[in-house]
Amino acid sequence: MDEVIKHIKENRNNYVEELKEFLRIPSISTLPENKKDMINCANFVSQKLKEAGMNRVEIFQTEGHPIVYGEWLGAPSKPTLLIYGHYDVQPVDPIELWDNPPFEPVIKDDKIYARGATDDKGQMFMHVKSVEAFFKAAGSPPLNIKFLIEGEEEIGSESLETFINNNLDLLKCDAVLISDTSLYEPGVPTLTYGLRGISYLEVEVSGPNRDLHSGSFGGAVANPINILADLISNLHDENGRVTIPGFYDNVLKLSKKEKENIKALHFSEKKFAKSLGVSELQGEKGYSTLERLWARPTLDCNGIYGGFTGKVAKTVLPSKAIAKISMRLVPNQDPHQIAKLFTKHIKKSAPKSVKVTVTTLHTGYPSITPLDNPATIAASKAMEKAFGRKTIYMREGGSIPIVTVFVKKLKAPAILMGMGLNSENLHSPNEHFDLNNFHLGILSSAYFMKEFSS
Ligand code: BES
Ligand code: MN
Ligand code: MN
Repeated sequence: MDEVIKHIKENRNNYVEELKEFLRIPSISTLPENKKDMINCANFVSQKLKEAGMNRVEIFQTEGHPIVYGEWLGAPSKPTLLIYGHYDVQPVDPIELWDNPPFEPVIKDDKIYARGATDDKGQMFMHVKSVEAFFKAAGSPPLNIKFLIEGEEEIGSESLETFINNNLDLLKCDAVLISDTSLYEPGVPTLTYGLRGISYLEVEVSGPNRDLHSGSFGGAVANPINILADLISNLHDENGRVTIPGFYDNVLKLSKKEKENIKALHFSEKKFAKSLGVSELQGEKGYSTLERLWARPTLDCNGIYGGFTGKVAKTVLPSKAIAKISMRLVPNQDPHQIAKLFTKHIKKSAPKSVKVTVTTLHTGYPSITPLDNPATIAASKAMEKAFGRKTIYMREGGSIPIVTVFVKKLKAPAILMGMGLNSENLHSPNEHFDLNNFHLGILSSAYFMKEFSS
């Protein structure tokens, strides 16, 4: 093991150079014009898996973007570890707010800046390098390895879900290792045991058959924007609770132990508010900020448009207004059922003067992993070795919808060993990844493989 660790430390800078190459590929899964880049990116990943020592590497075509699979099964008496990650990234807009072009990685203060740096190319790449280190410095890894790297995480992992269902034997494993979450704080080894789910919908309110002069018609015809705004604001009550009937029915309550764990973190709401430039936090009454983020369901309008949005003034009574709404869900809410409840409620609440259509854009189940399995224990020990501190356990407000599919279909625990930081601007301009955490992630990954193999 010592040689492996030494090898990783000696190659720290080489790994960063390789990561830069990965980050130069604009693999934006949502945009049709980047389809070719997605293919290039899948080829890049496949090449890196081969270089890392995988003896079977395949790119599987899907209806969406390719899935990259790689395996090395040379330790038949040992457990099998499946490593999951995603090579797709979010769009870059608003591009004018980036200090450097998003696909030209630069390093400042030991942080690498580029779209996908922390979410998830940098994090995924840590495991490729730790596996490679075993081959280069110890002959081979101490357990069997399967890599499953997809290109549709940011759009709901639809192709991957089908792929998993059709390839249960191929993907058979004893644990799934994922680095696509955050550390609680820099320097604190963290395992995430819960993720929120999501129902993402679009609401379109349409009124008159064309945009109208707001003088000639205003006051006589329903204004879709006014009505949509009203509908949205009525989705919360004065206690910050979502008003959709049945919304909270299946919400799993926080256990006493979890509440105590959260308290013991001594989270500073003040510092948090300050870091975001807001003078006060808000949310559901009766819960602390971490409870709201990790264990309570929420509803947010992500975007709203209609009518005239240019810089100057134009008088218009719009024919349409559209809002994008996400609901973050917690165990045991069902995203499909929540989408239905939302649709029913909105349609019922709208006046007859407009027509409302609701479209579900994507859904993802929440997940929670028990902590008393050998893989989690091994991961905790591994991170403690790499960081030199005690591992903490937390939940996460974001979503990785495929995690439940792994747990349910492969019947293996999911180890969420994230090395990101929530301050690293994922999905925003100037996304970055702390290279110190990149390095600690490679070390943690290697220690984990060793620990879990015995
Ligand atoms: N890596 C994130 C999930 C995440 C977000 C982890 C924040 C830790 C902190 C993942 O790539 C992501 O962005 N997921 C989407 C899922 C959606 C598109 C179905 C999300 O949470 O919005
Ligand atoms: Mn991600
Ligand atoms: Mn993401």
